[in-house]
Amino acid sequence: MQRLTRWGFGMAIAAALVTGSTISAQEPVPTASLVIAGANNFTQYCVVCHGKDAKGTGQLAASLQRKPANLTELTKRNGGTFPRDLVFQVIDGRQPVKGHGGGDMPEWGQAFLASADSSNADAVKQRIDSLVEYLATLQVK
Ligand code: HEC
Repeated sequence: MQRLTRWGFGMAIAAALVTGSTISAQEPVPTASLVIAGANNFTQYCVVCHGKDAKGTGQLAASLQRKPANLTELTKRNGGTFPRDLVFQVIDGRQPVKGHGGGDMPEWGQAFLASADSSNADAVKQRIDSLVEYLATLQVK
């Protein structure tokens, strides 16, 4: 099920990229534009620590006390289900999640709220949602 959904999602993105159309599906599949926004946000804010491949290999990784997490194994480490809500909360950081984030992981909820591009709660939520959906596309089995 999980596999089929991911595959279907990939195809939908491919189709949307080719045709420029928006995705419509019965399941609540994020739009391609949300994932693309997430990829851009990831490059801008996350790659320095988590690395381009999201495996924790960013330039700053070596100078941190705690190694940045490998973000391609979130599903694997959660018994095969992508832990959407948890990932959202860890990125947001305003409600600490025990055993996740903290330490060197910045609190993005506050940072995004302070940024001119997303200065209200809805915009912050959308920004974090985009990151969550982008990360969902990177999961290994
Ligand atoms: C300054 C370095 C740094 C930056 C920048 C950074 N992170 Fe992190 N991140 C970390 C560290 C270090 C951890 C591991 C924290 C821990 O183990 O407690 C982490 C953990 C995480 C986790 C939790 C993984 C798990 O298994 O619990 C997620 C999700 C995450 N980061 C997403 C992001 C996203 C998305 C961005 C960009 C918006 C980002 N990080 C930017 C350093 C960073």
